[in-house]
Amino acid sequence: MTDATNAAWASLAALDKPSLNTLFAAGDRLADYSTQLNLPGGTIRFDWSKTHLDGAHVAGFTALAEAAGFAPRRAAMFAGEHINVTEDRAVEHTALRGVGRETSVEEAHALHLRMKSLVEAIHAGALGEVRHLIHIGIGGSALGPNLAVDALARDEPLVDVHVVSNIDGCALEAAFKACDPATTLVAVASKTFTTTETMTNAHSALDWLGQNGVADPYGRVIALTAYPDKAVEWGVDETRVLPFAESVGGRYSLWSSIGFPIALAVGWDDFAAFLDGAAAIDRHFESAEGMANLPLRAAFADLYYTQLRGTQTRACFAYDERLRLLPSYLQQLEMESNGKSVTLDGQPVGRPTAPITWGGVGTDAQHAVFQLLHQGTNLVPVDFIAAIIPGDSLSPDHHRNLLANCFAQGAALMAGKASKDGARAYPGDRPSATMLCEDLNAATLGALIAFHEHRTFCNGVLLGINSFDQFGVELGKEIAKSIVAGSASFDPSTEALLAEAGIK
Ligand code: F6P
Repeated sequence: MTDATNAAWASLAALDKPSLNTLFAAGDRLADYSTQLNLPGGTIRFDWSKTHLDGAHVAGFTALAEAAGFAPRRAAMFAGEHINVTEDRAVEHTALRGVGRETSVEEAHALHLRMKSLVEAIHAGALGEVRHLIHIGIGGSALGPNLAVDALARDEPLVDVHVVSNIDGCALEAAFKACDPATTLVAVASKTFTTTETMTNAHSALDWLGQNGVADPYGRVIALTAYPDKAVEWGVDETRVLPFAESVGGRYSLWSSIGFPIALAVGWDDFAAFLDGAAAIDRHFESAEGMANLPLRAAFADLYYTQLRGTQTRACFAYDERLRLLPSYLQQLEMESNGKSVTLDGQPVGRPTAPITWGGVGTDAQHAVFQLLHQGTNLVPVDFIAAIIPGDSLSPDHHRNLLANCFAQGAALMAGKASKDGARAYPGDRPSATMLCEDLNAATLGALIAFHEHRTFCNGVLLGINSFDQFGVELGKEIAKSIVAGSASFDPSTEALLAEAGIK
């Protein structure tokens, strides 16, 4: 934290915090805080009017962005500078969408051409009949593909994709039960090609193919990795290794060859539309300034709540069954990126960083967790996401009710309801933001994901932290390895658990 950012935070902390009702009474909040973007797959409205942002806070956060060097850091990211300082790496997932440093965009284009020809060759029968793909990866090598396949490949996918991440063999066995080995390919997705869960599952998938009559199990494997040599050494023919750049972070990698299962399930045209939707957000993010920049505006609101109102969580509810995996995807994106304790120069950050991201799907969540949102003692900023065009072909009653419920929740959270009976009173003044898509398709899904990526980046920059490393996940991995190797001793509780489970 510099003197300038400290001063900006101090000014923000001193501002009045008017209620939502007061803010709506004072001005045209829709004009100021609700914006529709025209995107390749249709419009998306980003309505932040039911948050507590006001002119004074926007001015304060704009001053903070200036003090934190937001514009130069954004430019540095798009220029391919090594903004991931702890790992001395560039951050170039946008190059996969055609936006960024020219050489990286060209490399990304070359990868996509290879991916496209492999996908189209498989569809054309070059590897025999292919009905199933078991996609093995974890974290960023699984969450994005799982979300996109689940959202976009509901009606007659070109290939059935089964994403397996957990080292618990129950997960892989469930995929085996759903697949016919003779018509199954296996994608091994790992940026590092060393992750224990993925390599263990990959070995078991090879065994399963071999034990079920497949003469050359390695011939059924496609490797998706930033370390192609390791995949070749492991046994995959280099014609079926799709390498991506080291400058693409794991949780930002679904645009790279890690997105192979998406393209295989929905076809190349839809995958290209997915990239185009994200690219439209990249161009907006790269050029729009201040409050007009929607990911930055969202970050202003996020920081208002975590820094000035003490909120510890933020929830996302998709009123769209197709987005049921979005909350888990966002959990890794936001918490692995910004769950940090030190600044870029390694000093204690001195303020709360990422809140806990959680959420679910509407209307289910209304009957489970919304009680706390309306009447609990925790203030939880909520995001709603919905699409105007229905994803189903049943009676219009379904979709009309779905949207009515979505908008009713935002209205109720804000308005509240007085009652003499405390148990029946709603305090109101509870914030929400709404992302309303005209349609949910490959392009708008790409745009929604890219919006959240940039929102996460903005939060990181304004907090002065590095959003692109994840050292916090290493210690547990090291300890698990030493337990398996039998090479370490631990506290009495851990020792007793290990003994009882027969692991030591
Ligand atoms: O353990 C965390 C992590 O490194 C994530 O950042 C990453 O997405 C995941 O593991 C999987 O890593 P890989 O793609 O290298 O197998």
